[in-house]
Amino acid sequence: MDQRPLSYKMNDSSTAKQKRLSKRAEQLSPFHVMDILARAKTLSQQGRVIHHLEVGEPDFPTAQCIIDAGIDALKQGKTHYTPALGLPELRQSIADYYLRKFSLTIDPQRIIITPGASGALQLALSCLLDVGDNVLLTDPGYPCNRNIAQVLGAETLSIPVGAQTQYQLTADLVREHWNERTRAAMVASPSNPTGTLLSQPSLIELCQQVTQQGGRLIVDEIYQGLVYDVEDYTALKYSDECFVINSFSKYFGMTGWRLGWMVVPEFYVDAIDRIAQNIFLAPPTMSQYAALTALTAETQIELDQRRDEFKTRRDFLLPALQQLGFKIEVKPQGAFYIYANCEAFTDNSFDWVNRLLEEQGVALTPGIDFGDYRADKYCRFAYTQSVEQLALAVDKIAAFIR
Ligand SMILES: Cc1ncc(COP(=O)(O)O)c(C=O)c1O
Repeated sequence: MDQRPLSYKMNDSSTAKQKRLSKRAEQLSPFHVMDILARAKTLSQQGRVIHHLEVGEPDFPTAQCIIDAGIDALKQGKTHYTPALGLPELRQSIADYYLRKFSLTIDPQRIIITPGASGALQLALSCLLDVGDNVLLTDPGYPCNRNIAQVLGAETLSIPVGAQTQYQLTADLVREHWNERTRAAMVASPSNPTGTLLSQPSLIELCQQVTQQGGRLIVDEIYQGLVYDVEDYTALKYSDECFVINSFSKYFGMTGWRLGWMVVPEFYVDAIDRIAQNIFLAPPTMSQYAALTALTAETQIELDQRRDEFKTRRDFLLPALQQLGFKIEVKPQGAFYIYANCEAFTDNSFDWVNRLLEEQGVALTPGIDFGDYRADKYCRFAYTQSVEQLALAVDKIAAFIR
């Protein structure tokens, strides 16, 4: 006899009720790139050579000195919770980092340590949006922003952006789209998927406009440090009123350590503390100790060499793609992405990307992962591979196009 009382008592109607998903979970859109990644892995297991230009994380392992610091922390028994807002010494080290890098004095009390930029985005939107409120976003843009807002029962107003505005929001666009339920506007500079930056004058205007509307600007600076040809800067240089999000994932090469941070106006710190206590309890302890080493001037030397390598890759891949007939409407100056118009080859980039993978073993991300606006004409290349690997991928793409 079945000893399990619950399964024993189940009938069809209770099973159906049990299996009901919340509307929010049901409506959440998947990442198409995950399907591509899974398919690429299957092909790889079948012995095919796959070129991974779809993955949005550095191919470099975490720097050895950071790994050692993480191991030391574990050996010293640093395995308990930290305060929800993070280790005080890490908050101070991030303040020191802003001082060293940008000559900015930031009160460490305003710095909140989070489980990745993802955790910071959840906290920021949780303390700004009520059910039915909305936030302005770019299309194309980082897809999780839309989904996090949706899980919170809030809405997003996706604003189509193109080459004319460097794929970024402008003060005019904010003025045009803001309505009585809008609470915030979000930008990423450098951006995913376009690698483009907000110019400093545009950012200043944007800050002013959002402030004038009585809302908050959220600036995602996760790709800070991975900036080429132009000056790296932070929105904190211009305003203490915005939410600035950052992470140890990209420049610091620590994606799997799940650690990020956010600088917020002082008014929000207490509320964010309460939300963080309830949602995450605390960011990962071992990672926080490792991050203390990640932030030192010595580690930065190694990380800057990696940044230079990304620039070399961009300088190889960009003209190579242009020669093949891709249109790259704005030169990417940061992150490790090229958002390329592939109209010359297809009017359905999703299909095209899938065929490219099947036929030539090159994995890309289709435009549809980043929004709706002209998405079927674009795909994203991530140069998270060596120049040699990129060259092989370019040859394969050339063969596919022919
Ligand atoms: C623009 C942007 N923001 C946030 C994230 C989340 O990063 P993490 O949670 O690893 O810090 C990503 C990841 O790719 C991203 O591209």
